Amino acid sequence: MNQQYVIKGGRPLTGEVVIGGAKNAALGILAAAIMTDGRCFIDNVPDVRDVNVLLQAMDGIGATIDRKSRHEVIISGKDIDASGDLIVDNEYIRKIRASYYLIGALLGKYRKAQVVLPGGCDIGARPIDQHIKGFRALGATVKIEQGYVIAEAEDLIGAHIYLDVVSVGATINIMMAASMAKGHTIIENAAKEPHIVDVANFLNSMGANIRGAGTDVIRIKGVEQFHDTEYSIIPDQIEAGTFMMAAAVTHGDVLIRNVIPKHLEAISAKLTEIGAEVEESDDAVRVTATRRLKHTQIKTLPYPGFPTDMQPQMAVTLGLSKGTSTITESIFENRFRYVDELVKMGANFKIVESNTAIIYGVEKYTGAKLEAPDLRAGAALVIAALAADGYTTISEIGYILRGYERFDEKLRGLGGLVEMVSSEKDANKFIYKTGTNG
Ligand code: EPZ
Repeated sequence: MNQQYVIKGGRPLTGEVVIGGAKNAALGILAAAIMTDGRCFIDNVPDVRDVNVLLQAMDGIGATIDRKSRHEVIISGKDIDASGDLIVDNEYIRKIRASYYLIGALLGKYRKAQVVLPGGCDIGARPIDQHIKGFRALGATVKIEQGYVIAEAEDLIGAHIYLDVVSVGATINIMMAASMAKGHTIIENAAKEPHIVDVANFLNSMGANIRGAGTDVIRIKGVEQFHDTEYSIIPDQIEAGTFMMAAAVTHGDVLIRNVIPKHLEAISAKLTEIGAEVEESDDAVRVTATRRLKHTQIKTLPYPGFPTDMQPQMAVTLGLSKGTSTITESIFENRFRYVDELVKMGANFKIVESNTAIIYGVEKYTGAKLEAPDLRAGAALVIAALAADGYTTISEIGYILRGYERFDEKLRGLGGLVEMVSSEKDANKFIYKTGTNG
């Protein structure tokens, strides 16, 4: 059997957990690192599959990748041979979304790139028209042929670009290409997520000239060359939020360390609203929930609104809250795939038009055999299993391993009864072990 999680629910999570580097900042930063022929020392890199697949693809085009430890890597683009076609393609890179950051990085530095169309979680159509619009505005010709995005430019000239959709990926990708274009670029209606700011700060640390990241207007003055840098990636807002929800829904008491509380404001506000307690310090948040939580209304929005990547985890929490809640998913068109799985545990959800879920809170979930439909939905099902009565198995956890480092280990550190198994025998051993003294 493929790897699965086996979980025995019903125990409050208590103790401390340390959050790793932000996956969605790391993917942009690591891709951008090939834009210098200097040496980039990057730490707080999350050891997750998406990052490891991207590094492998970068190695494949000749970048120097020296993994000093799980969380530290030295990267340089100096050995990339740009004389031939720069083609990024392999079976693994086709599965991740962030392959597209190599287009912006290679186009910016070499004025050409050929990258297989991005994969990623099936949470919607996920077009890249805004990325292409930005590259074309900078003077590149971009075509999609035989499953590749092929971009090239005689030269890249700064432009005034207005994004039709607030897009994290397009904002980062255009920022990268424009950072080495000639002249000034303005990106209007830019995404403002913390990881956009982190990528901009990283590019500036290599010698780029980017102002306004974190606002909806980013101004870039292109430079010819980047130099060495040392950089540390920000903590992962969504990993932190996931553990905050896990603490609340299991009525636990968890100190979540190595976070930037400001990045968690929308999550903390909603948890407080439904009756959890959230205590903030400089680089940690403590979440406790002693009694049953209450209902609320959520609408996912670009940062600083409630993050779409926390929608499934919040839904699981509201599924056990008192009263009726609603969640409207305004970013992606197919992000309620976990509902069918949750219903197997006794949840009472109704999906209505305009991408809204009506959630009728139930007293409890019961354990069931589940399948993770995507990364964040998978993490949400783990949370539901930790709060449920009895045993749950979750298959297709490869999705979860793409974005969460040592997830089961960290949950065990909080008293969670969860094990990653790859055989029925091991699953039964876990059930026997926890059944007798659980
Ligand atoms: C990034 O995806 C993240 N992935 C997603 O996280 C996250 O959910 C999303 O941003 C929103 O915050 C990575 O960073 C690798 P978008 P991305 O471009 O860049 C539409 C996770 O769980 N759109 O901001 O693909 C798009 O269809 C993952 O870690 C266009 O129409 O998201 C969507 O409706 C899941 N045209 C909306 O914009 C485009 O050219 C937001 O997408 C690009 C996007």
